[in-house]
Amino acid sequence: MKERTIFTVIVLSLVLIALGYLVATQVDFSWLLPAEASTRAVQVDRLFRAMMGIAVVIFLVVEGALLYAVLRFRRKPGDEREGAPIHGNNTLEIVWTLIPAVIVAVIGIYSYRVLADVEKKPENPLVVRVIAQQFVWTFEYPEAGITSNVLHLPVGQPVQFQIESRDVIHSFWVPAFRVKHDATPGQIDELIITPTEIGTFPVRCAELCGAGHAAMITEVEVESVENFQAWIDSGGVLPVSEGSSGPTEAGNNAPDGAQLFIAFGCGACHTLSDAGTAGIVGPALDGIGTWGAERVEGQDAAAYIRNSIIEPNAFIESGYPPNVMPQDFASRIPSEQLDALVSYLASR
Ligand code: CUA
Repeated sequence: MKERTIFTVIVLSLVLIALGYLVATQVDFSWLLPAEASTRAVQVDRLFRAMMGIAVVIFLVVEGALLYAVLRFRRKPGDEREGAPIHGNNTLEIVWTLIPAVIVAVIGIYSYRVLADVEKKPENPLVVRVIAQQFVWTFEYPEAGITSNVLHLPVGQPVQFQIESRDVIHSFWVPAFRVKHDATPGQIDELIITPTEIGTFPVRCAELCGAGHAAMITEVEVESVENFQAWIDSGGVLPVSEGSSGPTEAGNNAPDGAQLFIAFGCGACHTLSDAGTAGIVGPALDGIGTWGAERVEGQDAAAYIRNSIIEPNAFIESGYPPNVMPQDFASRIPSEQLDALVSYLASR
């Protein structure tokens, strides 16, 4: 190679490496990614940026070489000769095998270290059972004896999820935590995260699990330690929003019907204007206090509603399949709250 060519290659390489480094460390990708709300998210995003920096350099090298070849070696007008015969180039082949091998190995080692780090088991994590079923998420706090359809977590405390499924394979996906993990029937999977940001973030199902898959959505509320404790003390029913003082005396803050409707996850599948929900998996419930009375012979609206909650398959609205609504609300909703929910729906 001519000296000038070697010099050009060295300068270009240095410029590209500097560019890759800038992409990996300086470019703000927050417009591209969900909120970064856990320690895991910070590590995963750092890995993402490193890979983005390497990918940008490879893209420029490959496309640059292509563009250079197209321009530099294009056919001149009137030139009808055949191109020079080429029988391979061992040096070139070794170089373009070795460099990618080294890059893949480096990314592999780095990924492994990130994975080992985020999966490290902390001392005394808050244990939360994550139970997936068609088409609702249920979160159990074994120590407090609380069950909720909205995930509540205290900020800054390590959490150990125990993920399981009651029916088919689902996938527990919290984009803001950079967490996606299958919920598999017959096994319990553990997952460690530490939330770092107070706020409300979406929880989704990322595995096609049936007709209501798209509606299998809830939220995680990351709260200050005090507000989380207030929520635990309320028995896990009250949606305690950040900024409110939280429930103080039992009874004072009895949740209203709309809150219960949302707390038990009904809104994921049912539209109810008063509760502000727009689920389309099950029938819309606006006006059920009126039309509910005509559905089953001898049942008024309240009886029909109660029966539909505790034994959903007893009467199936035409146009909807059976076995979609969870069959276990009778055991999950305390009777006082069931009464409140029924009378609320009967008044819609
Ligand atoms: Cu559960 Cu998709």
